[in-house]
Amino acid sequence: MSLRLKERFEKKFDEEIRFFKGMMQGPKTVGAIVPTSSVTARKMASVINPQSGLPVLELGPGTGVITKAILARGIPAEKLVSIEYSEEFVHHLKQGFPGVHFIHGDAFDLPNTLGALAGETFDCVISAVPMLSFPMEARIRLLEDMLDRIPAGRPVVQITYGPVSPIIAKPDRYHIQHFDFVVRNIPPAQLWLYRRP
Ligand SMILES: C[S@@+](CC[C@H](N)C(=O)[O-])C[C@H]1O[C@@H](n2cnc3c(N)ncnc32)[C@H](O)[C@@H]1O
Repeated sequence: MSLRLKERFEKKFDEEIRFFKGMMQGPKTVGAIVPTSSVTARKMASVINPQSGLPVLELGPGTGVITKAILARGIPAEKLVSIEYSEEFVHHLKQGFPGVHFIHGDAFDLPNTLGALAGETFDCVISAVPMLSFPMEARIRLLEDMLDRIPAGRPVVQITYGPVSPIIAKPDRYHIQHFDFVVRNIPPAQLWLYRRP
């Protein structure tokens, strides 16, 4: 095995071990079996408009697969704000992605968790929080809060594993669009977009 391939293999293995550790600590808060695939991460990051000049908000970065895809879209690290509930993940993320504004806290309490950044307008929100582990009222409240922090027409992208949108329709409040079904993800993932007109 070449050195580069060996390093990549070790890094991937390390990510998966870290993920399993997170699962052991709180399976409900992790909500998946293995880290998101790079195919899914790239698709989620494709919604970003790097020309907007606005920061991007990420929720539930976990091992950082989606964080990496966001930065690969040309978003400077200082323009990425990322909220993660697990202290262990935050510790590793800070080492792996210097300059990104990682916040250790609860995405379902954005006003408090964002603190001094609560007044920011973001380009879009990229969310991997396990919506299905939370009650529907909490999911709707979080979605409305995310939409309040981005310009009208810009999307919140959410990953989930169920067959339907994890947040019920409220056509007078926001639009829901199925974005993709990614088979190259374990388990296969559904991506949803939410927007205000
Ligand atoms: C499905 S995993 C995302 C995995 C990530 N895409 C990866 O591949 O490593 C969900 C992530 O959301 C985090 N999370 C769960 N509840 C959260 C909350 N209330 N606020 C912020 N992050 C949360 C978990 O700790 C976990 O890292």
